[in-house]
Amino acid sequence: MNDAVLKAGVIGWPIDHSLSPPLHDFWLKQYQIDGEYLPFAVEPQNLETFLKNLADGGRRGTNVTLPHKEATLTIVDHADDLARKIGAVNTVVVQDDGTLHGSNTDSYGFLENLKDHQPQWRASAGSAVVLGAGGAARAIVVALQNAGAPEIILLNRTKSRAEKLARELGGDIKVDDWDNRADVLAATATLVNTTSLGMQGQPPLEIDLEKLPGAALVTDIVYRPFETELLKNAKARGNPTVNGLGILLHQARPGFAAWFGVEPEVSDELRSHILSVMAGH
Ligand code: ATR
Repeated sequence: MNDAVLKAGVIGWPIDHSLSPPLHDFWLKQYQIDGEYLPFAVEPQNLETFLKNLADGGRRGTNVTLPHKEATLTIVDHADDLARKIGAVNTVVVQDDGTLHGSNTDSYGFLENLKDHQPQWRASAGSAVVLGAGGAARAIVVALQNAGAPEIILLNRTKSRAEKLARELGGDIKVDDWDNRADVLAATATLVNTTSLGMQGQPPLEIDLEKLPGAALVTDIVYRPFETELLKNAKARGNPTVNGLGILLHQARPGFAAWFGVEPEVSDELRSHILSVMAGH
């Protein structure tokens, strides 16, 4: 084993279809870094042991994906404010003293993706409607709050989950009924789908956009298919849209920088590479 090799990876259960290894491998090659980024299938009952031994063999940290993001927050030695607020960690960095630092870069990835594709967008332009109340919704609601959204309207099929999320996060979050999703759009500046609806193999997201103002930005965390029906419909009526692939690409940047020492860029070549990997899965 060559100890000069910089090592990191991603843990999940399952982990087979993670796009993080091809993503980090692309950057390692682009920046000619002698590094290694491997997927590790870690069963939930083995998570704590895996993390406690993370630095063995010279690993500098790891990304964390489903279903370990929440549990990792309780295992790391310290976590940043954002990770604590979201209640989940997706990036662990081994510190010089051997302790584990947890952060959550999903909010960052979400906002950077919007900045990248619709730089004129401002969260402060008006209220945001967020569909869904799962783990992804948490990071996105926090992102929108921190970016200055004056009000967030949260709708979820299971309303109690949305109410719980609103209670836990605080701030100006109004919960409405899932069935009102077309009606709440009248004064919206930002519409985000964080549900799995519209994803390949999932039911479609049915939402009438007629009341949505023409300047409202529409974005979707779903990136399989690359352009969801929601985005197609929004684009067809002239709304600015941003697809979800960039969230995956941008959330990976801070971890790569911490482990491998280079701030990586999200280029068109990277996008095409990841799309071709996705097509092969
Ligand atoms: P994640 O943590 O990745 O966001 P999740 O917790 O499973 O994943 O959340 C999936 C989201 O999609 C939830 O908001 C879910 O609504 P429920 O909380 O009611 O389950 C939403 N979702 C999934 N299938 C749905 C459907 N058929 N109709 C409406 N919402 C759906």
